[in-house]
Amino acid sequence: MASVDRDAVMTALKGLADPKTGRDPVSLGWVQGVSLADGRVTVALEVPPDLGPALEPLREEAERRLSALDGVETATVVLTAQRAPAGQEAPAQARPRQGGGRAASIAPPGVRHIIAVASGKGGVGKSTTAANLALGLAARGLRVGVFDADIYGPSMPRLFGLGGQRPPLVNDRIQPLDSLGLRVMSIGFMVNEEDPVVWRGPMVMGALEQLLRDVDWGELDVMVVDMPPGTGDTQLTMSQRVELAGAVIVSTPQDIALLDARKGLAMFQRVNVPILGIVENMSYYVCPNCGHREEVFAHGGAQRTAEALGCPFLGDIPLDIRIRETSDAGTPIVAAEPDGPHAGAYRAIADRIAAQLETAGAAAQPKPKIRFT
Ligand SMILES: Nc1ncnc2c1ncn2[C@@H]1O[C@H](COP(=O)(O)OP(=O)(O)OP(=O)(O)O)[C@@H](O)[C@H]1O
Ligand SMILES: [Mg+2]
Repeated sequence: MASVDRDAVMTALKGLADPKTGRDPVSLGWVQGVSLADGRVTVALEVPPDLGPALEPLREEAERRLSALDGVETATVVLTAQRAPAGQEAPAQARPRQGGGRAASIAPPGVRHIIAVASGKGGVGKSTTAANLALGLAARGLRVGVFDADIYGPSMPRLFGLGGQRPPLVNDRIQPLDSLGLRVMSIGFMVNEEDPVVWRGPMVMGALEQLLRDVDWGELDVMVVDMPPGTGDTQLTMSQRVELAGAVIVSTPQDIALLDARKGLAMFQRVNVPILGIVENMSYYVCPNCGHREEVFAHGGAQRTAEALGCPFLGDIPLDIRIRETSDAGTPIVAAEPDGPHAGAYRAIADRIAAQLETAGAAAQPKPKIRFT
């Protein structure tokens, strides 16, 4: 089957019209996230808060048109609301209701720090980085959990060799699964991989909430959250409902990815989530035979971007087949080859993050609440 590209998606979206203005969602700047993976298209439209319900027919029509494109198996279009002006609530679609008041935190009470691993673009190695950073933090003696917030394409069951397993219930509470000394939770444990799940905005929020609130996370020093790509409902929910200690942005060196990384970064800055720094993944290639280091892309872009944006550069990770192979085998490289150079690189990044968390933890008593401004 032919695979669909972003241009085809944008063209289809341009054929739609906002009932109020008659303009299409692309020219209105509503398209905030397009994800294409194996025939699954997911589009997030960020719409003005007051228009949410009136745009439901447009959302449905967008799904119909995208589903009809060559190479698309399922299309999901979610409406998210623009951030609310200061002091106002976002509309129902943008946040779960809690008696109409400001949404309460759903962060698990026993977890000291929650960090998000994010990127603007898909496939840059967020999940690989999240898993290895979690192992790197655990290597420091910290109690670490991994929360797979990628509802659309969960990776943690595979990365931790937990595919097909179901989390047990103890005293009516869902227990995360244990792997390599970490506590791991993923929607992938709850749904069958063969069953395509079409998630809508409120369902995403409901699932995330449940995995955070109803799961018995126990006492953790750090929870590492693997985010889906982009700036859609998950990012919104996590930054609104969980007090994130910070975000780690993963980027590959190509310029376009960096542009996307900037978008991801700007999104967290906008909601006052501290940026812990940028990791450059697939940064360079080392020949396994001769040790020659090859700069596959324009290496160093993440460092320059980090400097330009005034946020820390956390380190770079090479493109190495062993990183993929160990992930695919269910034991990420920090655990599989702890004495190797890549494990060392991940641990060094984990050390930088841990240092920031310790400083932030000491400085922020009590921590400021995340607010939309
Ligand atoms: N440094 C690396 N060297 C070699 N392969 C890598 C590296 N980092 C990631 N990969 C491989 O690249 C692919 C994508 O990585 P990963 O799933 O971590 O990306 P992602 O950003 O989480 O993707 P998505 O946006 O779909 O969630 C995987 O097959 C992974 O094993
Ligand atoms: Mg991923």
